Amino acid sequence: MGAAVRTRTQVVIIGAGPSGLLLGQLLHGSGIDAVILERQTPDYVLGRIRAGVLEQGTVDLLDKVGAGDRCAIEGLVHGGVELAFGGARHRIDLSRFSGGKHVTVYGQTEVTRDLMNVRAAAGCPTIYGAADVQLHDFDGESPRVSYVLNGQTHEIACDVIAGCDGFHGISRASVPASAITTVERIYPFGWLGVLADVPPVSEELIYVNHPLGFALCSMRSRSRSRFYIQCELGEDVADWSDDRFFDALRQRLDPEAAEALVTGPSLEKSVAPLRSFVAEPMRFGRLFLAGDAAHIVPPTGAKGLNVAASDVHYLHASLDAHFNHHDAAALDLYSPRALLRVWKAVRFSWWMTSMLHRFPENGAFGQRIQEAELSYLTGSDAAATSMAENYVGLPF
Ligand code: APR
Ligand code: PHB
Repeated sequence: MGAAVRTRTQVVIIGAGPSGLLLGQLLHGSGIDAVILERQTPDYVLGRIRAGVLEQGTVDLLDKVGAGDRCAIEGLVHGGVELAFGGARHRIDLSRFSGGKHVTVYGQTEVTRDLMNVRAAAGCPTIYGAADVQLHDFDGESPRVSYVLNGQTHEIACDVIAGCDGFHGISRASVPASAITTVERIYPFGWLGVLADVPPVSEELIYVNHPLGFALCSMRSRSRSRFYIQCELGEDVADWSDDRFFDALRQRLDPEAAEALVTGPSLEKSVAPLRSFVAEPMRFGRLFLAGDAAHIVPPTGAKGLNVAASDVHYLHASLDAHFNHHDAAALDLYSPRALLRVWKAVRFSWWMTSMLHRFPENGAFGQRIQEAELSYLTGSDAAATSMAENYVGLPF
């Protein structure tokens, strides 16, 4: 192999998921140069199906970078969610309890596609298929990132590295173990999810607590639904025909929802484990972690993408102050500011998960506590206000 091709930029962003793409466009808007390195192809990145509920703060960031047009047209505005337990449904009026706020139902895949399109239109560089990405010297003032593309080694010198490469990325793994603390909870079950071109069961999302396990009826549009049921860890999707899935889902629904459930061939079916995970701090010298690279929440409450977006907002603010206003303290602010909000999202996602799933180890006491929690939540304005404030998104 010949000598490395050497270039320079201000920020190297690792990972072209929603975090990396959003950061890239916010930096572009502030006149800060960035190169994104992505291991996969664009089609591969767009093939990942994830949650689909956006807080207003996330929508505002998409608007800010010019990626919000399609979401404004196609996104479904939801002012409430339903909780089903004991055979009946109870609506939490998110708008009423949050001072008129709402969430927007719009798939993460579409968010990623819209961000890719604005990035391409702006002529900003994203290198897909970047192999063997390695981070160098981020404990000093002059970090570098190397990668291999089509057999050629490249090396980019930069001021800052943004690790936006998800839970399995190289960025967090490059930090010496002694410099990082990780906190984790693995839940003793998973979610089996199905995407299908059938109309939603109801106007709003239905979160179900049932003796057979959690279920969720969500949607991507008026003609595309996303369903989940709680399943065993390590469940094999091959054992789940569409019929078996829909029968299991129907059993967990109240009679009206069961009647309204329209079934159809699955477009995608997958099992996801549930975990809460936080790596602290989120900064190591000139390396900054954002999104899934730093933390994971269980999907109950759909906070993953939204907390990634708030990280990116804080990181952009610190980088803008550092590069454009020569604020010497700006880089120090990122990790503590981001972590305060991260932990609140971790708490809310854990709380939603704990309230709605069957925990094998909890027994009758745990079951009755869940019933009391749900009864309190649906009967108390104070409790509903707390849920609504978190579900629509804490400020940032
Ligand atoms: N080199 C380059 N790119 C990498 C590497 C690597 N070594 N490792 C991972 N990547 C890329 C992945 O291929 C992926 O495209 O980094 C990207 C990370 O994207 P995401 O996993 O989507 O993470 P993030 O952008 O932080 O998005 C957070 O995604 O997982 C959901 O719930 C989460 O909704 C939240 C959102
Ligand atoms: C989804 O639509 O995929 C979804 C919605 C809400 C959640 C989790 C996932 O809490």
